[in-house]
Amino acid sequence: TVLVVDFGAQYAQLIARRVRECHVYSEIVPSTMPAAEMLARRPKAIILSGGPASVYEKGAPVAPDGLFDLSQRQGVPMFGICYGHQVMAQALGGTVENSDVAEFGGATVTVSSPGMLFAGLPHEQPVWMSHRDCVSRAPSGFTVTASTDVTPVAGMEDLERGLFGVQFHPEVLHTAHGMELLRRFLYEGAGCRPNWTMVNIADESIEAVREQVGHKRAICALSGGVDSAVAAALVQRAIGDQLTCVFVDHGLLRKGEPEQVEKDFVAATGVNLHVVDAQDRFLAALDGVADPEEKRKIIGREFIRVFEEAAREIVRGGSRGSSPQKGGEDAAEPVEFLVQGTLYPDVVESGGGTGAANIKSHHNVGGLPEDLQFKLVEPLRSLFKDEVRALGEQLGLPTEIVWRQPFPGPGLGIRIVGAVTRDRLDILRDADAIAREELTNAGLDRDIWQFPVVLLADVRSVGVQGDSRTYGHPIVLRPVTSEDAMTADWAKLPYELLQRISTRITNEVREINRVTVDITSKPPGTIEWE
Ligand code: XMP
Repeated sequence: TVLVVDFGAQYAQLIARRVRECHVYSEIVPSTMPAAEMLARRPKAIILSGGPASVYEKGAPVAPDGLFDLSQRQGVPMFGICYGHQVMAQALGGTVENSDVAEFGGATVTVSSPGMLFAGLPHEQPVWMSHRDCVSRAPSGFTVTASTDVTPVAGMEDLERGLFGVQFHPEVLHTAHGMELLRRFLYEGAGCRPNWTMVNIADESIEAVREQVGHKRAICALSGGVDSAVAAALVQRAIGDQLTCVFVDHGLLRKGEPEQVEKDFVAATGVNLHVVDAQDRFLAALDGVADPEEKRKIIGREFIRVFEEAAREIVRGGSRGSSPQKGGEDAAEPVEFLVQGTLYPDVVESGGGTGAANIKSHHNVGGLPEDLQFKLVEPLRSLFKDEVRALGEQLGLPTEIVWRQPFPGPGLGIRIVGAVTRDRLDILRDADAIAREELTNAGLDRDIWQFPVVLLADVRSVGVQGDSRTYGHPIVLRPVTSEDAMTADWAKLPYELLQRISTRITNEVREINRVTVDITSKPPGTIEWE
């Protein structure tokens, strides 16, 4: 394990991902974790992340007591990045100054003494900077390896103690040799081996699930999204027929999605699937409701009820899809485990502790029925989204499932502005299918984070089609780019593509006589309209 010490903001997650791209397992730990606790995790190396603070500020995060002793006494190499570089310099007797000139964005570093990290790399190289303070004097024992016009110590290292620091951000793609520097630190500086591969991840996770679940039974709610699908596929590999998946078809899915789950997913995994057709029930519950929050509440509530009923049925042994239980056990063997597709960012964001993470993951299925007490199986809780996708491919899941864009739990219910009816859902489904198909044909699926299509069901406008007046509804296209859905920008789709989508939707979908594009970033807009 490589520990990435989090000094704030989003930097640590990106670093941890990059380390894993070097095929080395990494975990994020808070900067408040005592050094002894870090050591107990037997790290091969420690990386100190960037952060938004100034080492001079009151309350700025500091290195845990004795952290740097770990490099000297315990032989744990360390790499300080940006704020982490400054923390390292300050703690070991160097000087950090509040410089007048900040460096934000692209800069050029000049390599003065290559050392281990820069050996053989160009004398001048483009890097990404984001700092106000800088290290003006390296601690004794360190060699200054690189500098910029503004930053005297943009790189430093002490090979003997295994300490390295850079002021810029190697984890950012704008830093030309950033990944190379990271690889050198990991492989040469810390002796890590590149054994974090998909094959190993799959094998180890399958083994861990087997160990956790034993001969007990588990259930999993499939949403059709990539996380629950990969989690279920993995658990299925581990425990086979002891797993039953529940798929609630609430009628708010997009065209082709129920079939994807019911046919493609089952074909690829051989999983026991318990399908609940709850379309009428959801429509009835949503009847006449136009308020977004109200809709969300109703959908969440109904989902829990349906899932609860299905779970009880399975617990009682009434699962339709279930084949004979292993070892001749009767089907009344209780279901002890609930599989969830919780990912690493959720775990980190909810404090990294197991307790906190569980509260949030319960929320993934909309809250668990209280009297059904499950133990959680979360086979993806140490993985990032891109790793989950790679794992899905490794497990042989269909591309359409693995590369599906995020889709909200309440589905099309929150993409109809106005009350939800069967008719409106059909209209929206048709328009959405066209937009998605054209996006795929344009080869842009992986460039666009999400492409909601929204029906303004309570709005009508006048149009003319085939010499006659129409009075139909507008459709809103909402293509966005994003890294994590926290912020987003509207995607500048090619005009030709927009034109094709517009023409096809107005020609092929009844009731739609106008197509608009939402050009609002997030913030101030959200990705979804409701
Ligand atoms: P907003 O609209 O808040 O959405 O910018 C951010 C991301 O979250 C998704 N989203 C949801 N996902 N249940 C979910 O599982 C929900 O209730 C929900 N609401 C929004 C949205 O699609 C986007 O990816």
